Amino acid sequence: MKKTKWWQKAVIYQIYPRSFQDSNGDGVGDLQGIIKRLDYLQKLGIGAIWLSPVYKSPMDDNGYDISDYRDIAPEFGTLADMDALIAEAKKCNIRIIMDLVVNHSSDEHAWFVEARKSKDNFYRDFYIWRDEPNDLVSGFTGDWPGSAWTKDDASGQYYLHLFSKKQPDLNWENPKLRAEVYDMMNFWLDRGVGGFRMDVIDMIGKVVDEELVANGPKLHDYLQEMNRASFGKKLGDEALTVGETWSATPESAELYSDPAREELSMVFQFEHIVAMWKNGQKYQGTRLNVPKLKEIFAKWQKLDKGWNSLFWDNHDLPRVVSSYGNDGKYRVQSAKALAILLHLMKGTPYIYEGEELGMTNFPFTDLSQFDDIEARTAAEDLRKAGVPEAQIVPMIAANSRDNARTPMQWDDSSNAGFTTGLPWLAVNPNYREINATACLADPDSVFYTYQKLIQLRKENDWIVWGNFELLNTADEVFAYVRLFDGRKYLVLVNLSDQTNTFSSVWTVKEVLIHNYNNKLDDISALQLQPWEAFAVELD
Ligand code: GLC
Ligand code: CA
Repeated sequence: MKKTKWWQKAVIYQIYPRSFQDSNGDGVGDLQGIIKRLDYLQKLGIGAIWLSPVYKSPMDDNGYDISDYRDIAPEFGTLADMDALIAEAKKCNIRIIMDLVVNHSSDEHAWFVEARKSKDNFYRDFYIWRDEPNDLVSGFTGDWPGSAWTKDDASGQYYLHLFSKKQPDLNWENPKLRAEVYDMMNFWLDRGVGGFRMDVIDMIGKVVDEELVANGPKLHDYLQEMNRASFGKKLGDEALTVGETWSATPESAELYSDPAREELSMVFQFEHIVAMWKNGQKYQGTRLNVPKLKEIFAKWQKLDKGWNSLFWDNHDLPRVVSSYGNDGKYRVQSAKALAILLHLMKGTPYIYEGEELGMTNFPFTDLSQFDDIEARTAAEDLRKAGVPEAQIVPMIAANSRDNARTPMQWDDSSNAGFTTGLPWLAVNPNYREINATACLADPDSVFYTYQKLIQLRKENDWIVWGNFELLNTADEVFAYVRLFDGRKYLVLVNLSDQTNTFSSVWTVKEVLIHNYNNKLDDISALQLQPWEAFAVELD
């Protein structure tokens, strides 16, 4: 038997600090706020927090534009607060995973400020400069496909930014830059962080002159070097590292996560997200295509040398109960069904704050309600592409990142208990019905399904290691068996507002989890309810 690492049995919880809990009434979530809610997270049962960026930042992209990698943004707190969070979380057996944003920095980072001063200073080569721009394009410009190059008037040269012009790309070909990054990572590891989530890490090996952005030839060399110089050296395979890799395929995921290669623990793949977007475009509409979803997950479950991560939601995506589930009549059942489907597969599950409450998308009606740079610039893109004004808000609303970023709904008091002040982004008006206090008081809530799934993973090796086999079923029924140690488990989910049927030759030994109250002792010919989902051990 392979030795199980802690992060293979644990569930990770993502916190978007700005939106989680405000502790001082300024309307912005902060580190002390997180500390106040650790008991809630402990009750849920998570093993680690992935903390979206809390570093000093002008917040052009809400912290994904860092101006000081070794300090905390004042709106979130201080270094002392961060040390306190690490220590308090540790007492609850929760590790802190920091967000590592090193494809680019902020243009307000001291390195870039220096780099701009002259062509021949030490920091110039920390960034990417050319006399003439090439055809590389950038998001967040409001001018799709906007140029990824901005002219720096002082030198007349252009600098590269694959995101907003306030996010200049770092030059990974420069060994001095790489050494600085590893040193900074060690600064945080020495303070006790348990690992890193690595922002758009598949881009650091880019070859600018070939206009090759993801999966450049040196990418894996850099990751191996990083591992040796920082988390591998400090924590060995206790470190949890997860790369954000929109370009990942099962083949490349094995390069990143095969332990023998000593790179990362796992990566986030996005095929189950992008394949549901119309024309593969984020703001053209989303439709859950269950046969396609089955095909994608079944393929990823076959990963052999590497390790999967499993997620529906994050700070860049809409709420899954709204996009893939039914956030009206079947909100609770569909939220549970999606959780059961995901959490009993092979890989490390991630929960995004509020997902465990079945939080929904926000009812956006007006462009002024969006905060996110991506939403605002995408709206401009659509307008320039000739999309009629009346269609722009609904198109952005469906997939906007702000859906995930509205404040966490703690209770039914004003502003959902998130802040006593004015929240930086409006609270979803459904907070009186959907909130943590209500969930905790209701044994049938979505919260307890997540709690149970986390517990099951801790206690059952079949969830961690069992072989995965997809069953041939009705289109909208996603059913798989996991085989482990001579035992057999069935996980079945009806991803539909309609009833469906399922038949099998098996008999049930034990019901492990089920989101309806009907009996399951005979599964020879089942009439499945809308969004019915369960896991059973078979005889
Ligand atoms: C990643 C982050 C996203 C950010 C982008 C640029 O995709 O998840 O929030 O805008 O990188 O840093
Ligand atoms: Ca605050």
